[in-house]
Amino acid sequence: MTSQTVKLASRVARVKPSFTLEMASKAAEMRSQGIDVINFSVGEPDFNTPDHIIAAGKTAMDDGFTKYTAGPGMIELRQAICEKLKRENGLDYVPTEILVSNGEKQSLYNACQVLFDKGDKVVVFSPYWVSFPEFVRLADAEPILVDTLPDKQFEADFADLENKITPDIKGVIVNSPSNPTGGLWSAEALVQLLKLAVKHDWTVISDECYERLVFDGEFVSTEKLNRDQNIGARVITCLSLSKTYAMTGWRIGYAAGDKTIIKAMSKIQGQATSCANSIGQRAGIAALSGDQQPVEDMRLQFMERRDLMVKLLNDIPRVSCAVPGGAFYTFPNFSEYMGKKANGKVIQDSFDLSDYILNSEAVVTVPGDGFGAPGHIRFSCATDKETIKRGISKVASALEKLI
Ligand SMILES: Cc1ncc(COP(=O)(O)O)c(C=O)c1O
Repeated sequence: MTSQTVKLASRVARVKPSFTLEMASKAAEMRSQGIDVINFSVGEPDFNTPDHIIAAGKTAMDDGFTKYTAGPGMIELRQAICEKLKRENGLDYVPTEILVSNGEKQSLYNACQVLFDKGDKVVVFSPYWVSFPEFVRLADAEPILVDTLPDKQFEADFADLENKITPDIKGVIVNSPSNPTGGLWSAEALVQLLKLAVKHDWTVISDECYERLVFDGEFVSTEKLNRDQNIGARVITCLSLSKTYAMTGWRIGYAAGDKTIIKAMSKIQGQATSCANSIGQRAGIAALSGDQQPVEDMRLQFMERRDLMVKLLNDIPRVSCAVPGGAFYTFPNFSEYMGKKANGKVIQDSFDLSDYILNSEAVVTVPGDGFGAPGHIRFSCATDKETIKRGISKVASALEKLI
């Protein structure tokens, strides 16, 4: 044991800790006390990885495929990714334009590291996935938060964006369907953003990890719109096997884009983690090239759960919940409950409300304030319908007790 004070780099203080993990650890503590906890905070599918993908992982291990691979990913996987991008997204890519990472998160992190510098600004739409502003800060750049329109699938509020444009903005991060809102942007909104990106020379980072979880309308990749309409924006598309194939623990994601940017991302990744895990990469080939029926089966179940959850939430007095077009989250508005009292304590914000719901009814949710959305709470649909019914009814009773 040393009594010396540890001096950490200033970067640590600049980055926010994950508040979603905080809620999860509170829930785990309650569970360990024997309390029946309902968890709506889960950010991953509750289904297991499909059997044929697991089998491919097992075969990889049995074959001794347990060593490092090429830094940017095995060529066979990058080829399978190019085929997937052609087949599902109508996009032509070659393997040198693809980087396989330890989850899409690493691709997004790499992209920010190679594109942004100190003094640069990057547009992030609010409500945002918690990691976006942190990726930007870790690149010593500054996130510029831009409002979205809750009644229009949380698309950009372009008036707010136009007001915030400065010459030091170097990029924009877009995520449709979105975590936390489930919002699915229209093609028109994406095109409008692409045109602004060309005009101001921004790189567009398009996080499309929920592309296969779309319930209303059709998913069109940002880069497909860019190419079809000859807009000419610089787009880095980041994708993941995590949500599509229920493979969060396998840690396989990827980026597709301009060769020079991909090569730079690969250089950073090579020094940080060498390559993505070899077993996951072999399983990834099976996922992308094999039977896609399990993906559709999961999508249909998520859609039924979404419909149920939106209805039950809207049945609660003074709660309004927009219908999310994709992903597996609902993002209801509880603003009318702010300022009310529970056991003499005023509910000031969504952190207080989430905490109250957890302590009074043992239901775990994620406060919207953490995503830059005061008054909102995120509920995950990654749980069965019976649990959804039981959980939302508990939320309703908790709210009834507020005065
Ligand atoms: C919007 C968004 N992007 C990226 C990721 C990261 O995915 P991966 O597991 O591939 O790192 C997540 C995971 O929650 C997410 O919600």
